[in-house]
Amino acid sequence: MGKDTLSVTDNRTGQQFEIPIEDGSVRAMEFRQMKVDDDDFGLLTYDPAFTNTASCRSAVTYLDGEKGILRYRGYPIEQLAEKSNYLEVAYLLTHGELPTRAEYVKWEHDITIHTFIHENAKKFMEGFQYDAHPMGMLVSTVGALSTFYPEAKEIYDEEVRQLEIKRLIAKMPTLAAFAYRHSLGQPYVYPDNDLSFSGNLLNMLYKMSEAKYNPDPVLERALDVLFILHADHEQNCSANAMRAVGSSQVDPYSAIAAACAALYGPLHGGANEAVLRMLNEIGDVKEIPGFIKRVKDGEGLLFGFGHRVYKNFDPRALIIKKLAYQVFEVTGRNPLLDIALELERIALEDEYFIERKLYPNVDFYSGIIYQSMGFPVTMFPVLFAIPRTAGWVAMLDDAAQKIARPRQVYIGAEQRDFLSLAKRNSTGG
Ligand code: ACO
Repeated sequence: MGKDTLSVTDNRTGQQFEIPIEDGSVRAMEFRQMKVDDDDFGLLTYDPAFTNTASCRSAVTYLDGEKGILRYRGYPIEQLAEKSNYLEVAYLLTHGELPTRAEYVKWEHDITIHTFIHENAKKFMEGFQYDAHPMGMLVSTVGALSTFYPEAKEIYDEEVRQLEIKRLIAKMPTLAAFAYRHSLGQPYVYPDNDLSFSGNLLNMLYKMSEAKYNPDPVLERALDVLFILHADHEQNCSANAMRAVGSSQVDPYSAIAAACAALYGPLHGGANEAVLRMLNEIGDVKEIPGFIKRVKDGEGLLFGFGHRVYKNFDPRALIIKKLAYQVFEVTGRNPLLDIALELERIALEDEYFIERKLYPNVDFYSGIIYQSMGFPVTMFPVLFAIPRTAGWVAMLDDAAQKIARPRQVYIGAEQRDFLSLAKRNSTGG
C-alpha cells in the first residue's frame, strides 16, 4: 500500500516536495511553497472554470458523473423521486437526515406559516413593466426581502438562520407566483395553506374566481417530483455564486439573489427555456438533420445536452422523461415531444455528440413538461429556483468557509508612466 502523498519535483529548481493527499485531493496552498527564489510569490494553480478544483467539503449531495449517480445525503435520487416529496427532501437537505413523523409535521407547519410575503413586497412587484421577465423579478424581489428581515444579517445565530431557511423555502413560491400573475396582469393569489407545497404553488399561479382551487393530483405530483430532482446539485454555477457571495457574510436573501441571477443564464437554469425556444425554432422533425449540422458546424448549441459533470447520462433526465408521459395523460401529448425524441435519437447516434460525451441533461425534457402544464417559457428558470433554494440554504453551515477570494495570473502590461491626453498617440501610448 503506497503513501497518501504526492511527490512533486520542481524542475526549475530541482527541489522536491511531498504533499499530503486527503479525501482524493491536495491543498492548492501546498504549491505556494514552490518558488524559484525568495522573491517569487510561489506557484499558483490555474483553473478558470473550477473544472478540477474542489471549493469546499460537503456532506449534502454526492454525484458521480461517469456512473450517472446522484444522491442527496446518501439517498439515491431515484428513490427520493419515487417515494418522497419536496418538503421532506428539503428537510433532508437542510437537516442531514430524513424527518421523523413528528419532525415532518412540524416542518410542514413551519414552512406553511411563512408562505405569505409582506404587503409592501407586492407593491414593488407591481412596479415592474407588464412584460418583465419573471426571473428578473424574482432576482430583485428575493434580494429585497432582506430589507424586511434585517435580523437575517445575524448569520451565526442558529435560531435566526433556521428561521430564514424556512422563510426562504416558503416564500420563493409566493414571489414566483406573484411575478407570474403580474406578467399576465392578473390579481395576485394568496397562499392556500391547506394545500401541499406544490399544490399551493399551482393555486397561486392558476386560481381564478373559484372559491377553492383543487390542483390536479397528477400535475401536483409531477411538479413535486420535478422539485425533488432540482433541489440540489452540489457545486454548480448558482451554488458557487451562493457560496462566493455568502462568504462575505452577507444575509442569505442577498446571497440567494446572486444564486438566482447565476441560475438565470442559458448555460445553467435558463437552459430549459432555451430548449423550448430551440424546439419551437426547429418546428418540424424533418428540419432536425439541418439543425444538427448547424450545431456541429459551431453555429449554435443543442440546448439540454451536455453537462460539466455527467459524461454518461444524467439520472434526472431519465426520471423526467418517464414523468413526461404521465403528465401528457392529463394534458395531452405535447407536439414538441416528437421533435425532442427524434433530436435525442439522432444526437445519441452521432459521432460529434458521442465523442464529446454529450447526453440529454435535466433540462432537455423538463421544459416540455412545464409547457404542457401551461407555464410560459419565461417561468422555467423560476420553477428551477424555487426547489433549488433548499440546496442553496443547505450549504449555509460551513465552518471551514472563509471569504472567497481567488487569485489571478496577471498577463497585463508592466509598470508604465501616465501620459497626459495631449501627449497620447492613437493607441493611447
Ligand atoms: N451542443 C453542442 N456542442 C456542445 C454542447 C451542446 N449542448 N455542449 C458542449 N458542446 C461541445 C463544445 O462545443 C465542446 O466542443 P469542442 O471540444 O469541439 O470545442 C465540447 O462539447 C465540450 O464542451 P464544453 O463547453 O467544454 O463543456 P463544459 O463542461 O464547459 O460545458 C455545458 C457544459 C455548459 C452544460 C455545455 O454542455 C452546454 O453549453 N450545454 C448546453 C446548455 C445546457 O443545456 N445547459 C444546462 C446544463 S444542466 C444545468 O445547468 C441544470
